[in-house]
Amino acid sequence: MQPPKRYLVTSALPYANGPLHIGHLAGAYLSADIYVRFLRLQGKDVVFVCGSDEHGAAITIKAKKEGITPKEVVDKYHSLFEDTFKKIGMSFDIYHRTSAELHHQTSQEIFRTLNDKGEFELKTSEQYYDEEADQFLADRYITGTCPNCSHEEAYGDQCENCGTTLSPTELIDPKSTITGAKPILKETSHWYLPLDKYEAWLKEWVENGVVDGTSLHDPADWKNHVLGQCKSWLDNGLQGRAMTRDLDWGIDVPQELEGAEGKKLYVWMDAPIGYISATKQWAIDNDKDWKPYWQDKETALIHFIGKDNIVFHCLIFPAILKAHGDYILPVNVPANQFLNLEGKKISTSKNWAIWVHEYLEEMPGMEDELRYFMMKSMPESRDSEFTWKAFQEANNNELVNNLANFINRVLVLTKKYYDSVVPEFHEDEVLASAQNSSDESYHDSELLGLFDKLDEMRSFIHKFEFRAALKCMMEISALGNQFLQFNEPWKTIKDDPENVQAVMNLALQYVTALSVVMKPFLPFTSDKLRNMLNLPEVGDGAYLNMMNDLAEGSLILEQGHKLNESAHLFSRIDDSVIQKQLDKLQATATVTEETKSATEENSNGGLKSTISYDDFQKLDIRTAKILEAKKVEGADKLLELTVDLGFEKRTVVSGIAKQFAPDNLKGKKILLLANLAPRKIRGVESNGMILLAEDGSGNLSFVQPEGEFGNGFEVR
Ligand code: MF3
Ligand code: ZN
Repeated sequence: MQPPKRYLVTSALPYANGPLHIGHLAGAYLSADIYVRFLRLQGKDVVFVCGSDEHGAAITIKAKKEGITPKEVVDKYHSLFEDTFKKIGMSFDIYHRTSAELHHQTSQEIFRTLNDKGEFELKTSEQYYDEEADQFLADRYITGTCPNCSHEEAYGDQCENCGTTLSPTELIDPKSTITGAKPILKETSHWYLPLDKYEAWLKEWVENGVVDGTSLHDPADWKNHVLGQCKSWLDNGLQGRAMTRDLDWGIDVPQELEGAEGKKLYVWMDAPIGYISATKQWAIDNDKDWKPYWQDKETALIHFIGKDNIVFHCLIFPAILKAHGDYILPVNVPANQFLNLEGKKISTSKNWAIWVHEYLEEMPGMEDELRYFMMKSMPESRDSEFTWKAFQEANNNELVNNLANFINRVLVLTKKYYDSVVPEFHEDEVLASAQNSSDESYHDSELLGLFDKLDEMRSFIHKFEFRAALKCMMEISALGNQFLQFNEPWKTIKDDPENVQAVMNLALQYVTALSVVMKPFLPFTSDKLRNMLNLPEVGDGAYLNMMNDLAEGSLILEQGHKLNESAHLFSRIDDSVIQKQLDKLQATATVTEETKSATEENSNGGLKSTISYDDFQKLDIRTAKILEAKKVEGADKLLELTVDLGFEKRTVVSGIAKQFAPDNLKGKKILLLANLAPRKIRGVESNGMILLAEDGSGNLSFVQPEGEFGNGFEVR
């Protein structure tokens, strides 16, 4: 197959109903970013689009929960997403949103075309309806027991426990998520996409990469788990799927159509079209034509997604594109699997997550450290796991001890020996080599070895094997380190300065190559390193040029070039930093299922489940005294307290303003849980928790040491 003329790369549009966590990054974003950045380095024509998914029940349910409008919800998260993506180095050409007018028009146009072509089937059926809320219940508006795994909180469109796609009528014991009411059945009409009619060509496309007799891609290039999921759908037989909903938030079904009143497009009809409208907006902003990116057969369309989105990108959206007739189909959908966190599934509702915007705040300047670890543990072909300990180890052992150490040694020695000027390279020097040398001079053979590694990296990226590509990068650094170690320039500088010149010249070529291939993975570090090398930031085509130079046997860093001051690129992460994050994760996670049911059941006084003595020992409870108390501005329940712990004073925020007047608290003896992870509450950092007893009617009482008792003593 011909190499594509251009690329259109998409990352799944995140629902604008909550912040981004590391699972998002690992799923649809970082891999796409590396891929696109590498294409740019090769001088390819590529447009990378994303945006916020702002429709559907995910949004309206959140709005109801928070007591704000859906518009307020999407505005809030859209700007948070924009900011977070930018800070973590996502290099979208455009970050759009589905509430944009252009997107509404684009979606309606496509809907209209399909309707005009007679692709839809208009069907009337009985659907669940909540009489109290006066609303039909589709998708997330309805829950019940999963017929597949018996999970009790499966949604009307999907069971998040076992991943099965469902329709509301399959749920056992259905309940409205709006009122909790048992729904009734009521007639309604909708536009259906007859997937059953497309089944034959979809099967041929997925299994053989062939459409209408033309071979479009090689299925062997697709990930196994993606093909597997598609095949299982196809084997079970596809059914028509409604592309409209009875809702009041979303894109109107074109109003000129009969029966369109009160109907909106199904969110999974409009969201992927968001990729198209984003491209249109990008074209407007950049004075380009969007059409070739979506309609020319020589364009490679690639969707990066998480595995829960496979059916939509591999069957439903392609069906829409093909039914329309003017569009190309994706050449690949390299979905990732799931990332777990510290042994558990990431869960937004249980707050078991690392929120990217919080990470960026708490670990400033450590964007690339997170990117590195996420890529290293990317769930490419199976689920994988994030642990803080492994994050720390990867940073300390790999980024610090290997990469930063190699680069720093080279730059420091260059400064010491040559006042930071790239030394001359002498052809005839014999160097001890980490590579196997043959006839060529050692220098050349080293450079060829480097060339091969760099080429290997590229081929991994083209196969969407990002972990392997990252490993290649680290191997280049390790080879450089070995090469220095073999030649020990610090030992031979006196006796054989010519040889050392050649060694250092070569080491600098390695460092320069790293500064280029690092860019997709560690863009911030690449920029820093280029600055130290006194070279411009790595731009489009840089990899291509470098490979051409190396293939010709030319140097990629000129002799006589003067370098800038160097500094360490990475530093060690201490145990205390990791512990703080672990504590925070535990402290902010909401009660687990078991403890919740135990507290709700009051037969045993609501006792929580048993803990070990070790668990108890983790609590550091101290005697203390309140020195100062004042109201927290803008919060009617909160007091900011200054507490004397004997050995130090602390600020603690406590939700007791309704029960206690600040003036009555001065001098009060208390017990403080002193090792609770710090938390910012209304802009004030709270360091600990005051222990209070609470009776059934919400009365509070301080738990105090008796009589005259000093501050800062342990309670055991
Ligand atoms: N919002 C969806 C999710 O977070 C993804 C939408 S991808 C698109 O799961 F194709 F619809 F854009
Ligand atoms: Zn299930």
